[in-house]
Amino acid sequence: MLSSLRSGVQCLWRASSRALQTSSTLQHDSLFVHRDTPEDNPNIAFEFTPENQQRIDALLAIYPEGHKRAAMIPLLDLAQRQNGGWLPISAMHKVAELLSLPRMRVYEVATFYTMFIRRPIGKYHVQVCTTTPCWLRGSDAVLKAIKDATGCEVGGNSPCGKFSISEVECLGACVNAPMMQVNDDYYEDLTVEDTKEIIDKLKRDEKPKPGPRSGRFASEPLGGLTSLTEEPTGPGYGLQDGLKA
Ligand code: FES
Repeated sequence: MLSSLRSGVQCLWRASSRALQTSSTLQHDSLFVHRDTPEDNPNIAFEFTPENQQRIDALLAIYPEGHKRAAMIPLLDLAQRQNGGWLPISAMHKVAELLSLPRMRVYEVATFYTMFIRRPIGKYHVQVCTTTPCWLRGSDAVLKAIKDATGCEVGGNSPCGKFSISEVECLGACVNAPMMQVNDDYYEDLTVEDTKEIIDKLKRDEKPKPGPRSGRFASEPLGGLTSLTEEPTGPGYGLQDGLKA
């Protein structure tokens, strides 16, 4: 009786331990906690360039008094672009100062959105979607091709310092799966060969043409149009004779 109870408990424990899942540490791995480093600490001054200051003035003018904080994400985005693609803590402090907000309000936003990268990254931030539609269409092979070509691991920077890789959730281009985003551009309908070619061009600082690699336009059906293939009928089509003028 006791031994069968024990084996039952062991079975249950095994079943529950199998069911437990943990998030991979290799997911989109910006730090969630700030630690001062030589390249990212509050003693490093951050100022917006005069061009970006003009943009900030234009952005702030959109929002009425008392609601300027709504410009926080555009301001953080400007800071990140100005700083080579990542957002240092001094830039967050600058944004808090411009918006007259406690710094904590800015930290909350910068740590919530994965578009804000809080560690130094390479010139080309390669974000590979590995959510189900892309995964079913071969995103594992695409990711491996990128890792092999750059020598970079997910969440890290390549030895040459030019590439950083992130594994991300759906980027909204599932119809063109598998896909990846490099900085602001989408590359879709990828094969391993396409991926290697794109990385090779980036290594030479050439810009590969963004969009689907399959030759189709945007997310048109791959095998050609299946609807809306005839001339549209004109006004009055199908009306009873009695209703026609
Ligand atoms: S699943 Fe990859 S873009 Fe949606």
